[in-house]
Amino acid sequence: MSEYSIELHDVKKSFDGGKDFVLKGIDLKIHRGSLTAIIGFSGTGKSVLLKHMLGLYRPTSGDVHVLGSDLSQMDDNELTQFRCKYGVLFQSAALFDDMTVLENVMFPLDEHRRQLSLEAKIQIAHKKLNMVGLEEKHYGKLPSQISGGMQKRTGLARALALDPEILIYDEPTTGLDPILTEMVDNLIVETHKLSGGATSVMVSHDLAAAFRIADFIVMLDAGKVLLSGTADDFFKSEIELVKRFVNKGMKHQ
Ligand SMILES: Nc1ncnc2c1ncn2[C@@H]1O[C@H](COP(=O)(O)OP(=O)(O)O)[C@@H](O)[C@H]1O
Ligand SMILES: [Mg+2]
Repeated sequence: MSEYSIELHDVKKSFDGGKDFVLKGIDLKIHRGSLTAIIGFSGTGKSVLLKHMLGLYRPTSGDVHVLGSDLSQMDDNELTQFRCKYGVLFQSAALFDDMTVLENVMFPLDEHRRQLSLEAKIQIAHKKLNMVGLEEKHYGKLPSQISGGMQKRTGLARALALDPEILIYDEPTTGLDPILTEMVDNLIVETHKLSGGATSVMVSHDLAAAFRIADFIVMLDAGKVLLSGTADDFFKSEIELVKRFVNKGMKHQ
């Protein structure tokens, strides 16, 4: 097994047939089992990069390997199946409004674990909800009847339903108040530890959190990797843009 679970080789992406490249040749290796944070100014291609890791976008050139498989070799059906290996949490928890907390978490199991009995699915959903710290008295409620923090927990439990090998977070704390932000950041670390070796990749605007919780940090700038390394590498960096970004980001916390 490779020491990396996600590898990108010279990935370029343009949406307009080749004039403007959003990703301008990304080379990146994400260590298996690590928690990696992707940082950078807004509009530099972080979300587009995540979508390549998920196989939601195909590169214009270059390739993306995940868990040893070349995503470019898969057709759309195979990619859809392959995505069972991922748990994804975006900025909005994107819960189904008309389903209860429990039904939301059971949804991926209903889709992808059809062979399981209803009891088994309920049991798994309970376990995941328990893992993210949601009490049983809330399981029958609709998303609108629970707090924002509980909605995040539910979204995370749903992301964990299929025991993903890769967890992807895109700005999970953007727009949250500081207390909720800390709770979600801690939850991501806890989840990472409890996941039993999953690889977590998180885009974050919250630098303090990224430096506190991530094993590795990748800074993108204008569609290129500006620096990739540990928090220490970032604090020691002589790259002007890195220094500016780190100082500015840390001061705001
Ligand atoms: N589907 C798309 N079609 C065209 N342009 C896109 C698309 N998705 C993203 N972009 C452009 O790519 C650039 C990077 O976007 P994004 O990855 O969302 O930035 P961020 O680093 O803030 O997450 C932006 O200029 C955005 O407008
Ligand atoms: Mg984004």
